Amino acid sequence: MKNILVAGGCGFIGSHLCDHLLQRSDVGLCVVVDNLWTGRKENLAHVQDPRLKIVVTDVEAFQSDVLFDEVYHLASPASPPWYMTEPKRTISANLLGAMRLLHLLKPGGQFAFTSTSEVYGDPLVSPQPESYRGSVDCTGPRSSYDESKRCTESLLFEMRRTEKLNVRVVRLFNVYGPRTRPDDGRAVSNFITQALAGKPITIYGDGMQSRSWGYVDDIVEGLARFFWRDQHGYDGPLNVGNEREIPVIEVARHIAQLVPGTTLVHRDPVPQDPTNRRPDLTIARKVLPGWECRIPYELGVQLNLEWFKDHLKAGGPDQQDVRVA
Ligand SMILES: NC(=O)c1ccc[n+]([C@@H]2O[C@H](COP(=O)([O-])OP(=O)(O)OC[C@H]3O[C@@H](n4cnc5c(N)ncnc54)[C@H](O)[C@@H]3O)[C@@H](O)[C@H]2O)c1
Repeated sequence: MKNILVAGGCGFIGSHLCDHLLQRSDVGLCVVVDNLWTGRKENLAHVQDPRLKIVVTDVEAFQSDVLFDEVYHLASPASPPWYMTEPKRTISANLLGAMRLLHLLKPGGQFAFTSTSEVYGDPLVSPQPESYRGSVDCTGPRSSYDESKRCTESLLFEMRRTEKLNVRVVRLFNVYGPRTRPDDGRAVSNFITQALAGKPITIYGDGMQSRSWGYVDDIVEGLARFFWRDQHGYDGPLNVGNEREIPVIEVARHIAQLVPGTTLVHRDPVPQDPTNRRPDLTIARKVLPGWECRIPYELGVQLNLEWFKDHLKAGGPDQQDVRVA
């Protein structure tokens, strides 16, 4: 039976990944390490599985007597307002987190890392293939995130080259869906929570900046296939996201229609906000034949809106009792 470690498992994507991991019959132990910076225990409160253990600590400081067959490193905020407020902590989570987790991997075990489309910076090509080297400002306000992801990729791919480390690296494009924090700060959740609160939807700049939004169920299905389900022999980096590129303002207008009476207001643009983002999925199609984002944003937004309605009605985030090892 396998020992699995998920760093950042109380977060939005990490908690969905844990749900998939716990469906596996070859998993004997699933340890989640999370410091609850942006994650919440309630994201895993529904799990009644004795194989799940949650350890509340910084991943960089995590100590364990057991080594792990598979390590999933998701510990990092993904939302700009969060990582821009604490850049040092963001760099530490990604890079020092990876350094620490490498010590906990069994020899021959698999190390998976969720990198990001932000490694492409404000891209000068569209769509962005994995071979695109990016347009990132290493002194800019987003650099703690972009550059720590890039450096962690470098660490892992160089360890593969020099030490035959078994790696799997994905570059996720924008993901949205249930279990996002109401105060997450990214477009879809912001727009929904503003509309539900009866406030105007805030658009930074003219709203023509585009993103490719993938609903979390589609994205995590891609992760499960790439990380453990499919036999493919490709280590990454692999773009995982939705090919459909949509201007931010279109999503805002759609949400405003779903919540009658909602208005839109424009604010100054966010510094160095990328103008466009769209994955080139050529490699994904070869590695994961048949996989793609199937849930159109119109449906995904509706599902997310319903989730937020229930969630906010229930009184917002609470820290329910879950097993803590
Ligand atoms: N959501 C997206 O659109 C998106 C896009 C690209 C990449 N990603 C990557 O996917 C991963 C998960 O993103 P998410 O949207 O679920 O974010 P999230 O903020 O919901 O989850 C991150 C989790 O990591 C935890 N964490 C952060 N620093 C930690 C540390 N030092 N020690 C222990 N735990 C720590 C947080 O508490 C949280 O539970 C991240 O690595 C992120 O960079 C996400």
